[in-house]
Amino acid sequence: MTDDGSTALADAVALLRAGEVVAFPTETVYGLGADATNPHAVARIFAIKGRPSFNPLIAHVASLEQALALGEFSGAAERLATAFWPGPLTVVTPVGVSRGVCDLARAGLGSIALRMPRHAMALALIEGLGRPIAAPSANRSGRVSPVSAAHVRADLGADVRCILDAGVSACGLESTIVGFLSGEATLLRPGAIAREEIEAALGTRLLQPVGNIVAPGATLSHYAPRATLRLNAEQIEPGEWAIDFAGKLAKAGAERIVADLSAVGDLREAAANLYTALRKLDDEDVMIAAVAPVPSYGLGEAINDRLRRAAGGVSSRSS
Ligand code: TXA
Ligand code: MG
Repeated sequence: MTDDGSTALADAVALLRAGEVVAFPTETVYGLGADATNPHAVARIFAIKGRPSFNPLIAHVASLEQALALGEFSGAAERLATAFWPGPLTVVTPVGVSRGVCDLARAGLGSIALRMPRHAMALALIEGLGRPIAAPSANRSGRVSPVSAAHVRADLGADVRCILDAGVSACGLESTIVGFLSGEATLLRPGAIAREEIEAALGTRLLQPVGNIVAPGATLSHYAPRATLRLNAEQIEPGEWAIDFAGKLAKAGAERIVADLSAVGDLREAAANLYTALRKLDDEDVMIAAVAPVPSYGLGEAINDRLRRAAGGVSSRSS
């Protein structure tokens, strides 16, 4: 352990083996990981995050083979995993017969969410453990996902001894989740890979979730700063701060600008900056902020999804 709370990979693997939790970087956001085969270790994740136990966790693997042993992959599911792994794609499949991931991590469902991250430290951690790692984003439930070790420390530092630090996450948005439960590929959560890219790889359109075929976490109030957000703002109202995109609100006369997600209007850059901007609202005690319009194509779909959640547009229970 070093003084700043980070620790070497070997120590982190040893902690996971001993049934402890470890926060670690991925290319999307930081995760709070535990041995996915150990229900006691997984229970610690739910307790630390304050996460309801009906909300299942993603099992992170280090190879396609490891995933194929845990889930029942259709041809299309395997094709998609092959196209985007390692990377920010999560696939949900019926659970495999081996049942290698404990029931608690899957919230008792007959399905399993699987992802092979591309971040070298995440892969090394999974390989070192030799088992899948169950990991949600390393934030307190209902808060904005962390894209740096400092964010993790601010949220969970009192409860998590080991935080592996690899700087700021490259994507800044969670993985895209595609479900293969009904035969047809369904977009369960927009994320760091744009819908268009996935549809091109599949050769079909992604279905929208219907009824209860949805990522359980998607119904919760999530990504919520304390400030009230006014989305798609073309102008600035008196008393408002601004989250800008491509300088639009600056041009409209905004003076108190928390951040411009991308001054040049690049959606990848905007995705990478989004959560830091939302956290800044809290840090600066902002009460109300206008958010400039962000295009809805490409990564804009996921950015707008998170902005709507941050504005309280999607909520049933806060957790
Ligand atoms: O990028 C990511 O996906 C990050 C990093 C750490 O890998 N992880 C992440 O985990 O965002 P979490 O727990 O914050 O979000 C996972 C989502 C939740 O909404 C959960 O309900 C959904 O995945 N999920 C997990 N298992 C599922 C399943 N069997 N069926 C449908 N949705 C599932
Ligand atoms: Mg999360």
